[in-house]
Amino acid sequence: MDDTGKDFSKAVDNEEVNWRLRVFDSLSYPTMIIKPDYTLVSANQKFLQLFGKRPEQIRGEKCYTFFYNKDTPCQAEECPVMRLLKTRQGQTLPWRKQGRWEDRVFSPILDDHGEVAYIIESIRDVTQVKMLEIELSGIKELISRVVHSSASAIVAADRKGNIQLMNRAARDLLGVTDVFERTIYNAEQLYPPGKAKEIMSMLRDESMGGKGKLSGAPVTILDAFGREIPVEMSAAIIYDDEDNESATMAIYNDLRKKLEIEKQLQETQKQLAQSEKMASLGQLAAGVAHEINNPLTGILMYASMMLEQLDSTSPQRQDIECVIEDVNRCKEIVKSLLAYSRSTDFQRNIIDVNQLVEQSFRLTRDQKIFRNIQIKKQLSDEMMLINVDSNKLSQVIINLVINAADAMENKGTLTVRTYRNKPAGKVYLEISDTGCGIAEEHLTKIFDPFFSNKSRDKNTGLGLSIAYGIVEEHDGQISVSHTGPEGTTFRVELPQYIPAEN
Ligand SMILES: Nc1ncnc2c1ncn2[C@@H]1O[C@H](COP(=O)(O)OP(=O)(O)O)[C@@H](O)[C@H]1O
Ligand SMILES: [Mg+2]
Repeated sequence: MDDTGKDFSKAVDNEEVNWRLRVFDSLSYPTMIIKPDYTLVSANQKFLQLFGKRPEQIRGEKCYTFFYNKDTPCQAEECPVMRLLKTRQGQTLPWRKQGRWEDRVFSPILDDHGEVAYIIESIRDVTQVKMLEIELSGIKELISRVVHSSASAIVAADRKGNIQLMNRAARDLLGVTDVFERTIYNAEQLYPPGKAKEIMSMLRDESMGGKGKLSGAPVTILDAFGREIPVEMSAAIIYDDEDNESATMAIYNDLRKKLEIEKQLQETQKQLAQSEKMASLGQLAAGVAHEINNPLTGILMYASMMLEQLDSTSPQRQDIECVIEDVNRCKEIVKSLLAYSRSTDFQRNIIDVNQLVEQSFRLTRDQKIFRNIQIKKQLSDEMMLINVDSNKLSQVIINLVINAADAMENKGTLTVRTYRNKPAGKVYLEISDTGCGIAEEHLTKIFDPFFSNKSRDKNTGLGLSIAYGIVEEHDGQISVSHTGPEGTTFRVELPQYIPAEN
């Protein structure tokens, strides 16, 4: 090689070195080169600026001295250089200092034999990314907290219906435990068969609250045990940027309490309507009873006089006796009507409800209609005082018991039960039979005066209306609490008497 040649190759070398140095210096990340023995070889401008050093202050320093002010290398597992030497693969060391986050990235420079000749360490400022990450995870955390603390049940599922999220309220509503979570994996299982598809098509229907939305629809869902729960449901399909369906979410609000209150309200309205009807019927009955009472007394008087005047052998005697008997029957009805219309005297006394039951049953004991009826008494152990006209209430119990015996055609089981609701201050008396039950269409009529579906000669259809009048007069309530082919239960509710304290 001549001089020129040498010069030429030198020139190329210089250019090459120059070029490489420029690249090194132009790197926008602070970067430096370390030897496998931890000696710093060189650093680029950015690095020198960052640490406020000149090149000669760096060259020859050990990295552990430069960064950590130590005399010996760091522990193997925490030193990325050592890890890199072992694996010959790049390493990243997250680094935090004074409110800044850095990723220190170590890359190997291999020699011709594939051994690590140098290590490039470059420092990347990831503060902004980290801040965004923190912000994002804060938002995520907030959303998750909002979702989980919501009183409404929230369930989200992916496109295939796999449940991805179920908040605490949803788990409570559906009775989902960890064991169940594994079994309820598809949203379809939250609905009765076929209903999930119907809901999806309702969701996709633009005319029902807009495309992908459904709001406040009453539906029935199934809990983890397959029990039905009425809920109000709002749901949405979640679309991705290309308008494809990517997920669905639903919010459920339990309607059981609301429905229960509505039912109670209806019940109260029904009772109110009934008591209004009874009040006007009562007035009418009282009026009629008064009007009829006087002529009846007249008829009875004249008939009795005629009977006295007739010869003991007269063939008309029997007819007159019939008249008298029928008039007496009419007078009984009038008396009952007057009782029902609250026009007779009222004498209250304080009595234990169980004692009242015993008294009333004693009156029925010897009657032959009870011979084949088993009487079961389930009387409360507690003393439950009521302040009532016990003769009148006995009449209520007797009427109910006779009706029960009639319904059972004089054979079956009659149960009388007493209990109370202490906080509400109510005492209850129930008479149940194993009789024929009451037809739905009769339920609204049985308390009406003269309603009866029994033979006319013995039954007046006044028993329940009298009972109703008496109970109402005691600020109580009488109702059919159950009826069906297996029998009927009548319930009488009365205010409990609470003695004043001294
Ligand atoms: N325990 C009962 N089981 C079935 N039906 C009943 C019962 N109690 C009452 N009823 C029905 O209510 C009607 C009215 O009863 P009530 O006023 O006592 O009149 P009566 O007994 O004279 O028919 C009865 O005719 C009967 O149809
Ligand atoms: Mg009766």
